[in-house]
Amino acid sequence: MCGIVGFVGRGDAKDFLIKGLLTLEYRGYDSAGVAVVREKGDLEVICRKGKVAELSRAVKELNVTGSCGIGHTRWATHGEPSEVNAHPHIDCTGNIAVVHNGIIENFMELKEELLSRGHAFASETDTEVIAHLIEESYEGDLVQALRAATSRLIGAYGLAVVHSDCPDEIAVTRKESPIVVGNSVKGAFVGSDPIALIDYTRDVVYLEDDCIALLHGDGKIDYYGPDAEPYYPEPTHIDWDAETASRTGFPDFMLKEIYEQPRVVSDTIAGRFADGAMSFPELEELDSWLDTIDGITIVGCGTSYHAGLIAREFLERWARIPVSVEVASEFRYRSPILDDRTLVIAITQSGETADTLEAIKIARSLGAKAITLTNVIGSRAARESDAFLNIRANIEISVAATKSFLAQVALLACLAMHLGVKCGKLGSEDIARFAAEIAAVPAQITQILNERPEILRCAKACSKAHSVMFIGRGFGYVSCKEGALKLKEISYLHAEAYPAGEIKHGPIALIDESVPVVVIATKSDTYEKVVSNIIEVRTRGAKIVAIATEGDESIRKLTDYVIYVPEIPDCFSPLTTSVALQLFAREIALIKGCDVDQPRNLAKSVTVE
Ligand code: F6R
Repeated sequence: MCGIVGFVGRGDAKDFLIKGLLTLEYRGYDSAGVAVVREKGDLEVICRKGKVAELSRAVKELNVTGSCGIGHTRWATHGEPSEVNAHPHIDCTGNIAVVHNGIIENFMELKEELLSRGHAFASETDTEVIAHLIEESYEGDLVQALRAATSRLIGAYGLAVVHSDCPDEIAVTRKESPIVVGNSVKGAFVGSDPIALIDYTRDVVYLEDDCIALLHGDGKIDYYGPDAEPYYPEPTHIDWDAETASRTGFPDFMLKEIYEQPRVVSDTIAGRFADGAMSFPELEELDSWLDTIDGITIVGCGTSYHAGLIAREFLERWARIPVSVEVASEFRYRSPILDDRTLVIAITQSGETADTLEAIKIARSLGAKAITLTNVIGSRAARESDAFLNIRANIEISVAATKSFLAQVALLACLAMHLGVKCGKLGSEDIARFAAEIAAVPAQITQILNERPEILRCAKACSKAHSVMFIGRGFGYVSCKEGALKLKEISYLHAEAYPAGEIKHGPIALIDESVPVVVIATKSDTYEKVVSNIIEVRTRGAKIVAIATEGDESIRKLTDYVIYVPEIPDCFSPLTTSVALQLFAREIALIKGCDVDQPRNLAKSVTVE
């Protein structure tokens, strides 16, 4: 949630700040602001409600110049989205400005205390207490003041601070919220995500919890550990290609990321099959322990949870191990039964989702071991698990998860095969067949991308509905859940997914000619049953969009629209049907005039409960 940027060096800070905030806007876009130290004693803070474009206009109009500044794009937690609650927040003197990602849990208590000592507050945010705490501790040393202030905080924070006394310095720190720094001949940079820095440097340092970095205008960066002693971290080289953070000719990131999926699936599975065996070197240390497991619990949120539902089928079919799949926000408040024979698989694209992180922590405290699947190698989820697997989807910028979902599913399939082999349930012939089948998926996805005109026709037919129902069975049902989520989140159209066999137990009462029904009717063991369900909803007047296997002409007679997908083993069907549903949701959202990359009320990573 939220994005932080900062620059100190040679040149105009505002250019870097605005460009960086635009890059990080996918992380939050309720309001944005910058603080620029123009010269000693002169700090200018500008905030605007709404998107970064609003702020950019204001910064230009007001002609803000200065070579040291910090910026923030916000997804509101404490305090409504407004100019007054937008970051940066300042202290009583107006000399200190702070930008913050995360949540300060004890802010009410601190605020009372600060109020009683005469501080005046301008906003409803938790962040503002930090500016006042720094104000109280500042005696000419920003690092020391920041350390003193953060020692009072309970919660999570990534922080960047400037002081008008120090026009050549930015102090940054973090706890459970990412902060990345880097430098070049131009100066020193900070971001809450390396993507804000990659145009300036490819070598970055991920700051560790409770460490402080002091960025200087000549590009030098001093690092201090939790014990306040200097240390010298090794930078991490970021090897994303230059196109990663740009739309490269696509109208939006969502479409770009949908089109990247054939390549992503190939990248995800690359190297997993070696000489008739599965290859998971990342799990070597857990190898003998994995032989002892008698249960698996999968945790995740949203789309990642849906990937988990698919993985349950893989694991139970191929490894014959009982699996439960839990929404992380529910899991953490139950009394789950786990022990040292339980494998927990945490699925999180960002590696930052607060509920999933907590679920990992709880599971490990009960003796279970956790393997995390993530797209962010240095993320907390990766670091706080016993092992992690990189889904290799490359950075995903559109708020709606697309390519990360496919990568998760493909990798979970490989992992389930691996465990199936370990449990003695599968042999080299199964692996060979599986390898050939999954290797065909990228080309099959490309085929679906070519179906866009037909998908657009279906989208037009459904875009005026007030609600869309998705039905399917088995893997088709999970794809429906994911399809309905995509539609809801980017088009704001109400959508529900039901197991097709369940509709006559209630949901069919919703059906009339105004409620289109999307049915996953690909070839599977339950195909005939799904056809019966199509007839049931058709009889109630519903307009029907079927996702069917190419060559299935009979389905045309029963439905109004058909989107054909290539023939594929049923277990891999989510890798293709979901692509059709992603495009379907996007087309409807565009028809309705929605911003598909930055849907209202959402942000890319949910780092708060
Ligand atoms: C939906 C979507 C969200 C995320 C969820 C979990 O398109 O993106 O539902 O899947 O917030 O996020 P991660 O995977 O980062 O834990």
